[in-house]
Amino acid sequence: MAATTLLVLLLAATAASAADLSVYHNVHPPSPSPLESIIALARADDARLLFLSSKAAASPGVTSAPVASGQAPPSYVVRAGLGTPVQQTLLALDTSADATWAHCAPCDTCPAGSRFIPASSSSYAALPCASDWCPLFQGQPCPANQDAGASMPTCAFSKPFADASFQASLGSDTLRLGKDAIANYAFGCVGAVTGPTTNLPKQGLLGLGRGPMSLLSQTGSRYNGVFSYCLPSYKSYYFSGSLRLGAAGQPRNARYTPLLSNPHRPSLYYVNVTGLSVGRAWVKVPAGAFAFDPATGAGTVIDSGTVITRWTAPVYAALREEFRRQVGAPSGYTSLGAFDTCFNTDEVAAGGAPAVTLHMDGGVDLTLPMENTLIHSSATPLACLAMAEAPQNVNSVVNVVANLQQQNVRVVVDVAASRVGFAREPCN
Ligand SMILES: *[C@@H]1O[C@H](CO)[C@@H](O)[C@H](O)[C@H]1NC(C)=O
Repeated sequence: MAATTLLVLLLAATAASAADLSVYHNVHPPSPSPLESIIALARADDARLLFLSSKAAASPGVTSAPVASGQAPPSYVVRAGLGTPVQQTLLALDTSADATWAHCAPCDTCPAGSRFIPASSSSYAALPCASDWCPLFQGQPCPANQDAGASMPTCAFSKPFADASFQASLGSDTLRLGKDAIANYAFGCVGAVTGPTTNLPKQGLLGLGRGPMSLLSQTGSRYNGVFSYCLPSYKSYYFSGSLRLGAAGQPRNARYTPLLSNPHRPSLYYVNVTGLSVGRAWVKVPAGAFAFDPATGAGTVIDSGTVITRWTAPVYAALREEFRRQVGAPSGYTSLGAFDTCFNTDEVAAGGAPAVTLHMDGGVDLTLPMENTLIHSSATPLACLAMAEAPQNVNSVVNVVANLQQQNVRVVVDVAASRVGFAREPCN
């Protein structure tokens, strides 16, 4: 099925119940094998790691993070509506960005895909440079020599994204998620793209981060500062997971760890990972390897947009050593794409791979489902440890718990109580 067919199917499907939306993979798999698809998708991780690990270069006192700078498109989308009458659109979920944006018409240089047409919406308003939102989106300030009485220019901004940059203007309109209508939602309306569009998302983006422009911030008490998501397995390509907004219906069995805040990166969901174990053995990482440091950005972030979990070099080296020791593959280990611990499954007794557990402050022990730990080739008797070291060309200090490791786990983000919860859930 072509990606466009899938898009039409998604747009035509019946509306989700209020505040509970279906979550889909955003691209058709480039290969029938999950291992090869994931390796291909993970090529965009380097750019995303760079984005997540870059310390905000903001001037003192300014706490806004870059909007989508250097980011790679996240992997999951929800159906949403914008405007009056409503225009259907797909928005990619991004838990590490705050701004929501859409490709708007006219835009000759945007990637092929759906466009929001502001001129056809009676509730659309262009937001001026003097709007309180404008500096948060890092829009251009109003001209200094503005004539009194002249109309205020619209808030305009230009942002790098992947190997391109986009020009957008700030607007507000009704955002519809499930049965909910959120009036006057501020978002970036992309009107032009400079550079290649290959690595840009075909759809808009829903900012689910922690900062002031995010969905939770813009909706105030409507969702009680709570949302959760459960991502479907990469193997079940045409099935959906879910995005649930609000405190109602969240799992009772979730275990919670405190959120840490980094004033330099207010969008990110930092948690306090205290250790890893492989099977029953505690991984011996160097002291302080998981330490949170707002000054450098070091620590561990939960992200919905990175594909493969990345650990900093000393953490990954220790994890790999313990994992390899327990698997004991007679012919050793080979590399494939981002993975460096692949082994011949014919040589290792069935079920020979140990489970990996993430230990977090507050007594959370998240044992990853086996499909989130070990990824199998469909063509050959080969399996790989499904995590990696941070890319070499990225001077990364941040550990990123990525979406491959979150399949079939409900992640409950409770910003109001400053905590993140995890519950195993088959959500395909
Ligand atoms: C992380 O958790 C450990 C163990 O509970 C604790 O000693 C440390 O202070 C925590 N770090 C932060 C930044 O909360």
